[in-house]
Amino acid sequence: MEVLEAIRTRRSIRKYKRRAIPPHVLKEVLDAARWAPSARNSQPWRFILIEDEDLKRRVAYATTAGRFLADAPLGIAVAVNTSVTRHPVEDGAAATMNILLAAHALGLGACWIGSYGSVYEDEVKEMLGIPRDWILLSIIALGYPDEEAKSSRLDLKEFVYVNKFGSKEGLERVIGLGER
Ligand SMILES: Cc1cc2nc3c(=O)[nH]c(=O)nc-3n(C[C@H](O)[C@H](O)[C@H](O)COP(=O)(O)O)c2cc1C
Repeated sequence: MEVLEAIRTRRSIRKYKRRAIPPHVLKEVLDAARWAPSARNSQPWRFILIEDEDLKRRVAYATTAGRFLADAPLGIAVAVNTSVTRHPVEDGAAATMNILLAAHALGLGACWIGSYGSVYEDEVKEMLGIPRDWILLSIIALGYPDEEAKSSRLDLKEFVYVNKFGSKEGLERVIGLGER
């Protein structure tokens, strides 16, 4: 799948078929994560595959909005080492996004379960044995989709200003979009 098509058609998927993810497909997803950019190429992430059923269920139920992970074939926790990067959140988010896009391009469905700064971050870190000076940036639920993708976006022109916050003057000229 072409990259722009993947970006436009990816949606969060929270219901999955029972079908297991073949190792070569999972490997491709993780390889995409490895190629994410990171500050000073610090590559500060580690990806923990949560495949043990009991552990996956415990992690799922520790979260506030990620219980669907319990019925996903796999979870991937993105842990970031804060002692080797000054930008652990951005680094972890970039790797997470690569995972979501690669998963979609390979026919999988996935959903980001926000974990960094959450009330359950420490509890899940403990379950997964993540060291104290690392953050748990995200948990990703992964599997073959068993629901129709939803979600929409505001019009592009709602997001873009020219030269100054709030200014739409010249939007037509710069990106071919009307100012209203
Ligand atoms: C930082 C972050 C945290 C998120 N946490 C959750 C979550 O805990 N549970 C969930 O169901 N979706 C979560 N999502 C997914 C968003 O709800 C979803 O991306 C948004 O509704 C847009 O839908 P789409 O991904 O289908 O375009 C999270 C997304 C981000 C970027």
